[in-house]
Order: sequence, then C-alpha cells, then structure tokens
Amino acid sequence: MVKQQIRKNSEQIFEQARELMVGGVNSPVRCFKGVGGNPLVMKSANRTQLVDQDNNEYTDYCLSWGASILGHAHRNVTLAAKKTVERGVSFGATTRHEVKIAQLIVDKVPSIERIRFVNSGTEATMSALRLARGFTKRPMVIKFDGCYHGHVDDLLTQAGSGVAALQQSSSDGIPQEHVKNTLSLPYNDIQTLEQTIAQHKDNIAAVIIEPVAGNMGVIPATSEFLTALRKLTHDHGIVLIFDEIMTGFRPSFGGVQADYGIIPDMTCLGKIIGGGFPIGAYGGRADIMACLAPMGGVYQAGTFSGNPVVMASGYAALRALNDDMYTKLNTRCDAFIDDINGFFDSNGIDAHMSHYFSMMSLRFRREPVRNYADAQDAQGHEQYARLFHHLLDNGIYFPPADLEAFFVSTLHTRKHLRQLSHALKTFFKSGGSQSINSKERTQS
Ligand SMILES: Cc1ncc(COP(=O)(O)O)c(C=O)c1O
Repeated sequence: MVKQQIRKNSEQIFEQARELMVGGVNSPVRCFKGVGGNPLVMKSANRTQLVDQDNNEYTDYCLSWGASILGHAHRNVTLAAKKTVERGVSFGATTRHEVKIAQLIVDKVPSIERIRFVNSGTEATMSALRLARGFTKRPMVIKFDGCYHGHVDDLLTQAGSGVAALQQSSSDGIPQEHVKNTLSLPYNDIQTLEQTIAQHKDNIAAVIIEPVAGNMGVIPATSEFLTALRKLTHDHGIVLIFDEIMTGFRPSFGGVQADYGIIPDMTCLGKIIGGGFPIGAYGGRADIMACLAPMGGVYQAGTFSGNPVVMASGYAALRALNDDMYTKLNTRCDAFIDDINGFFDSNGIDAHMSHYFSMMSLRFRREPVRNYADAQDAQGHEQYARLFHHLLDNGIYFPPADLEAFFVSTLHTRKHLRQLSHALKTFFKSGGSQSINSKERTQS
C-alpha cells in the first residue's frame, strides 16, 4: 500500500539549501535533475533504512553511492568511530589504525604491495595517474568511454555518471592541454585498443579502467577484453590501473581483480574501505609505489590523509565483512536478478537488470549492454524518472540518476528484495514504462 508522504520539511530546508549552496547540493548527481522534483533532505539512517526530515522511511539502495555495504550505522563501525573520536580526531602523524587497515588491504587485494591513503576517490585516481607518469616518464593516458574516475581534469572526458548529464562530453574549465594526452576508447573493444596502443605505445604511461563499469549502468568488462588489456599493457611497459573505487570489496574481499584473476599494476580504492567516511587509496607494485615521495620524486600529500577516525572506522567495516556474508549477499542478489529478468522475459518487456554481484542497474532495452554507446541507447530518462518516483512513493530510495548503479547491502533480506521486485513489477505492469520501445528510441 502506498502511503501518502508529506515532504514539507524537506522542501523547506532544500529551499534554504538552494539559496546557499550551488543547486542546493555539494555533488551534482544528488540534485534530482535527472528525475525531477526536489531532493529529499535526510535526517538519519539505520541498517537498510533512510529517514528524511519529515520522518518518511525508505529502504535504501543508493547506500551512499555504494559505500555502505554493511548498511547504515553498523555497530562495530559506530563504536570504532566513537572510541577514536574521544582520543582526538586528527594528529597529522602516523597512527596504529593506518597500519592495521593497510595490512588488511595488502593481504586481501592481490595487486597491492604498498598503499597510500587519501581523502576521496578523485584524489586516488589523480595521484595514481601522476605516479604512473612519473614512473614511466611518458605523458599519455588511455581511459574508456563512460568510465568515471572522479573529477580529475585529465580524466573528465567522455565520462559517465554526472558528467553524462552535461551538454558536452567533458566539463567546462578544463584547458585543452589537460586532455590532449588523454585518449578515450570504447569499452570492451579489443581491436581499437590494440590499434591505439600500437600507434602510441612509447608515449602511453597508463591505461585506467573500471574493470566492471558502474557509472554507465553496470557493465562488466569481458574477460577476453581484460586479458588482452593486461597483455598489451604488460608487453609495452604501460601501467595498468584498475579503478576499483566502486567495486573494491564489493563482490568479495579481492574485488574484480580476484574474481577475474587479472592483476593490474595499480589499484584505486574508495567508498567501502572507509566504512562510510570520506576516503580514497591507491596502491600497487612496490617498485611503482617507490617512486612516490618521500621515497621517490612524485609528490602527493594531504593534511587529513590517513585520518585516524576514518582509518579506524574503515578497518572496523572491513573486519565486519566475511566470506559467508559475501556468499549470502551474492546468492540473494542472484535470486533477485533471476526473478526480475524472468519477469521481463515472460512479459516481453523491453528491459533488463544488468548486475555484477550486489551492484545493479535497470537498463531499458532487452539486449545486453557492452559499452557507452549501448548504455546511452539503453537509457530511459523519462521512464527512469517515473520509476524513481514510483519507488519513492513505495518507500524505496534509488539513486536519482538513470546511469548510476544501485546497491544491495549485507542487511537487505530476501523480504526487502521481494518488496523491491514487487514495486518494479507493479510499475512495469501498470504501463509506467510504456513509451519504451526500440523504434521510439531510434527516432528520438
Ligand atoms: C569508479 C569511480 N571512480 C572514482 C570515483 C570518485 O570518487 P569520489 O567521489 O570519492 O571522489 C567514483 C565515484 O563515484 C567512482 O565510482
């Protein structure tokens, strides 16, 4: 039963926010531009539930954009944060907490021999790129269309996520010089990759990739593509960087690299490893990491990097995960995916749920989505906007943008997923997605 929601307080606070902060938000995808209406102003969260300023409750599938794999306010994380806060929040010096989480990550993520913590995913990819350039003494970088690596000048071309909502393929304010050394290639396209590397090989410092893309909907790279990428980069002395900021610790402790058995030279992490606090990290081969200051000549620093509250909370979060939890979470997700895709198939609905373990996205076409061009074809702005509000009215919070992935936490039960499945099916049965058919899409 749909409960009539009152959003008076949210509306009032957001009006104030709009007067003070650009668009009323501190990150563009939060602004509901893609789905219409005003953002809800959140008050608290516990386990799977978000509560807004009018005390409406929502089952959360945005989960701080993938950071909260344990759900909200996990007891161990909260306790670790409180305990650490009471002992002083920031020293700008080495702490025991850093060493513990560093050890855990080095043990679990196959490519990481040495690590550096920073404060966001953006800082991680920006620094990894600088390090790869310093290590190889080469200028160019290859990325892939639709992959988003944070708002790094050099990587903000043909990026998915919020950038896809801009009129042009990149951001204003980035001089051509910053992107002239960036080549953006189609995802999952071995031939173009081979040709490009053959043409520029001695100038390419790094290839950076989301090995499972989560910012153009969820698109796993094929294992043939990642295998070819690993071989080509290895053969030409190019640093291969996996951006696992979204996928790190998502399918299992080892991320995509452990799942595919393909080990990059460097890895960027973020989101989950902070237990909900702001974090980023980059790490990799010891010989590459040794080029970083204070050991080497590549400079990167940060007043708050390795902050004790973040480190202790992140460590508590990673310690709270275990193999059994991953197995159960992934099994629940598989069952949900089978159910919903079975529904689309048997009802001839032009949509499917793409997923990689517990990260998912609804695509408005039947055929699989392999790259950014497909992802754009599979977008359904109006349909997604209607779906988003339908879910909201049913007490379900999804990311307020069509190309973003949504996430399931270890606390979402079969019952939660049944509710989600029911809400999705009701939407499609009631014709909410009506205008979706390939003919209309090609015409528009
Ligand atoms: C794959 C990927 N890389 C990098 C980033 C940037 O991380 P942050 O928002 O912490 O700067 C994101 C953020 O969503 C991401 O999904």
